[in-house]
Amino acid sequence: MNRFDALVERKMTNSVKWDLTKEIFGYDELLPMWVADMDFPSPDEVLKALHERVNHGVFGYTIPSESTGRAIQQWVNQRHNWKTDPKSYVYSSGVVAALSTSVLAYTEPGDQVVVQPPVYYPFFDTVEKNNRVVLGNELLLENGRYEIDFDDLGKKLAEKKTKLFFLCNPQNPSGRVWRREELERIAELCIKHDVLIISDEIHSDLLLFGNKHIPIAYLSEELAQRSITCISPSKTFNIAGLQAAAIIIPNDSLRRKYNEIQSSQGFFTLNTLGIVAMEAAYSYGEGWLNELLSYLEENVTFLTAYLQEKLPAVKVMVPESTYLVWLDASGLNLEDNELKRLLLQKGKLALEQGSKYGKNGAGFLRMNIACPRSTLEEGLKRFVVAFS
Ligand SMILES: Cc1ncc(COP(=O)(O)O)c(C=O)c1O
Repeated sequence: MNRFDALVERKMTNSVKWDLTKEIFGYDELLPMWVADMDFPSPDEVLKALHERVNHGVFGYTIPSESTGRAIQQWVNQRHNWKTDPKSYVYSSGVVAALSTSVLAYTEPGDQVVVQPPVYYPFFDTVEKNNRVVLGNELLLENGRYEIDFDDLGKKLAEKKTKLFFLCNPQNPSGRVWRREELERIAELCIKHDVLIISDEIHSDLLLFGNKHIPIAYLSEELAQRSITCISPSKTFNIAGLQAAAIIIPNDSLRRKYNEIQSSQGFFTLNTLGIVAMEAAYSYGEGWLNELLSYLEENVTFLTAYLQEKLPAVKVMVPESTYLVWLDASGLNLEDNELKRLLLQKGKLALEQGSKYGKNGAGFLRMNIACPRSTLEEGLKRFVVAFS
């Protein structure tokens, strides 16, 4: 049996996905396929490192060490051929926290941040809740694939109040992996209009079907000097609950400013087990990750064939990365509220509504397929029941 086929009971573990679904969606007996974590145990090497640290028994304040930095450095080098200096790393409890800290560090109230909907919704919240303004450069759907509207992007970056560009690479919710030419055009525009790039690359280790990730800061030193790149082992190794992310800021003064804001919020260091898990995952997790990626590819293929056969009105955007599948349900001709009602009441399935990701996400649904195949099959059955 494939290790990823094993069912692990997650109810009664204070899991957001399994224990909060009823509260959030309002119904009993829902199968949760929404929030982005996986139903798989982390790699054995991570569990072993955690067990050893727990056995030590003392959990006083802990800091990431030189070996933590080396593990991150080696990881981004071996996975993405990106040479980074551990001196440029800042640690954060998460990538969303880092987006928010960046907004506070590099903008003033009323300044504008350009984002590309449909996109992970904290991209809006971290801007708006800090009294800054979101400017949407909507992605264009062309032949079932998202493309960037560069004319519109240029105009929005040129506005005087625009200070930051939030890039999501790879892109959540579509799984799109931005190509070198696209990143180069983004870079050129950000340099021309003197806009800093905050690049959320949390999904960058979960590349599927031979796709390749290019960190935007990898493109040139000039770009590295104006970018803040957020990475984390949390999605890759399913350790989101351990809250550890690394923020790569090569420019000294940008890094100083970031640290100033972060420390003003009382943030001092990561939690002990987060550091241990991050270091072990990046040092020893690669074999497990490669197995995971094959399993996720098979899940995508399974889902695509299933829906093509049983519910062809729903179009699957085959993800180039990560374990979130963006389903175009507009062919069902249902209002968003009706899509939601049918999924919950009839299908007993909890998915993310596309409209949360921006206006142009309406009519879409996001399904998390990082689960054993039998769970996926059950979810797909429920999906078909909802709309039959
Ligand atoms: C694009 C993106 N960024 C950030 C996060 C969350 O990161 P963290 O838990 O480190 O705040 C997610 C989680 O789904 C995500 O998809």
